[in-house]
Amino acid sequence: MPGTCVIGLQWGDEAKGKIVDLLTEHHEIVVRYQGGANAGHTVVKDGRKFKLSLIPSGIFRDHVRCVVAAGVVLNPGAILEEIDRLRVQGVRIEDNLTISDRAHVIFPWHSAEDRLYNNIAGGEPIGTTMRGIGPCYRDKVGRSLAIRFGDLFRSDLHDRIKTIVDVKNRIFRGLFDELDSSMGLAGWDADLNADKIHAEYAVYAKKLRPFASDTNAYLLDAVDQDRRILFEGAQGSLLDIDHGTFPYVTSSNSSGLGVAAGSGVPSRFVRKMYGVVKAYTTRVGGGPFPTEQDNEIGSRIREQGNEYGTVTKRPRRCGWFDAVAARYSARLGGVDVLCVMLLDVLSGIDELKICTGYKLDGVVSDRFPSMIEDLRNVEPVYESLPGWKEDITGARSFAELPKEAVNYVKRLGELLGRPVEIVSVGPDRVQTIRVQG
Ligand code: GDP
Ligand code: IMO
Ligand code: MG
Repeated sequence: MPGTCVIGLQWGDEAKGKIVDLLTEHHEIVVRYQGGANAGHTVVKDGRKFKLSLIPSGIFRDHVRCVVAAGVVLNPGAILEEIDRLRVQGVRIEDNLTISDRAHVIFPWHSAEDRLYNNIAGGEPIGTTMRGIGPCYRDKVGRSLAIRFGDLFRSDLHDRIKTIVDVKNRIFRGLFDELDSSMGLAGWDADLNADKIHAEYAVYAKKLRPFASDTNAYLLDAVDQDRRILFEGAQGSLLDIDHGTFPYVTSSNSSGLGVAAGSGVPSRFVRKMYGVVKAYTTRVGGGPFPTEQDNEIGSRIREQGNEYGTVTKRPRRCGWFDAVAARYSARLGGVDVLCVMLLDVLSGIDELKICTGYKLDGVVSDRFPSMIEDLRNVEPVYESLPGWKEDITGARSFAELPKEAVNYVKRLGELLGRPVEIVSVGPDRVQTIRVQG
């Protein structure tokens, strides 16, 4: 089976959605396998913009079946809204979408916990998307307070919700007594109501039932039948719970290592791994970011690249390309080829910098540190490349790019030790350059 995977090599929003949409042309199945409604993937076709959060970016191709696999945390209200929104935009969503009955479900207590812990944990907040992602994964791993998508169809759902709500309310009340409105929790309702939540989720269950299935069985059959599967990573490798910039990470394996566990398909069936990078670096939320440009350059990139969160609308932090970090992600994920995105955003900057090493305690290294304190203290070592002035959004081949832009892309490939296969010069499907051999 020629399985393909697309992952982000930075802190998310590398434009994975655009690449998945492009590659889907040659695939029959597209699988989301981790994360949840914290993801915001964008596809622009024929000048129309589509935002995706839980639904795989393959949904626009008629011949494709989209799978939300076991490793995703499912917010039923959010996916229903997304389905409605896409249908209004004319996208067909029927039996071309299937959702794993093993996927864990996000409940109102998860988003409440996201807010609560963000406020009581102290230190620099993680700055999550507040979508309840971490708390849902925590309950999944903890097992005793978890509900899976398939459980929504069981007759004991009300009892199950009631048991969990009783426990959660005891925890919330205990913590809530210590909180005050200065923590940004004014208007907080500490009491969850099991009956109300059950009524809401019973409606979701009815609407979503046609989409539920054992996606593990489906995907393993697809492997046996040699069908072409594309795996769509969410977030970025540096946000990986085990191998990213902990604790400023998301709660799933968002590097290339998460594909097998999240989808239920053994990793040896993934034959080609695409690593997606922006031509610079962005990050949303807290945590160290060595090449951040909290200055005119950063603002310029933000405005030029429209770097505001797809999900939360927060301004993204912007900085130079960090080859130390991206090379680490590329090696970690077993990346075969690179996609360099948003190259057009750098047009007009005279001198471009790329971070090629980290200086720590006087020693320069190209190793990405395991501990957050070290990452906080590294001083980036830069090399400079000449920029270009031309608008490159109309370029469709390498030959149409200014030589400085070609050199910049080639240098990124060299530093990451992988060939660049795709260069993107604008959000639209057509604003794409396929690099020949
Ligand atoms: P994802 O989460 O990795 O799918 O990325 P997002 O959709 O959150 O963010 C990428 C943004 O960049 C989206 O608004 C895309 O439409 C846009 N985009 C994608 N490729 C390009 C490009 O080459 N140039 C520009 N200017 N924008 C792009
Ligand atoms: P896509 O798939 C960028 C970030 C949040 C926060 C941290 C933890 O669109 O690339 P969480 O809500 O997951 O517990 O937040 O991770 N984050 C993302 N940043 N792109 C994403 O997804 C992200 N998903 C989560 O901003 O710093
Ligand atoms: Mg995004």
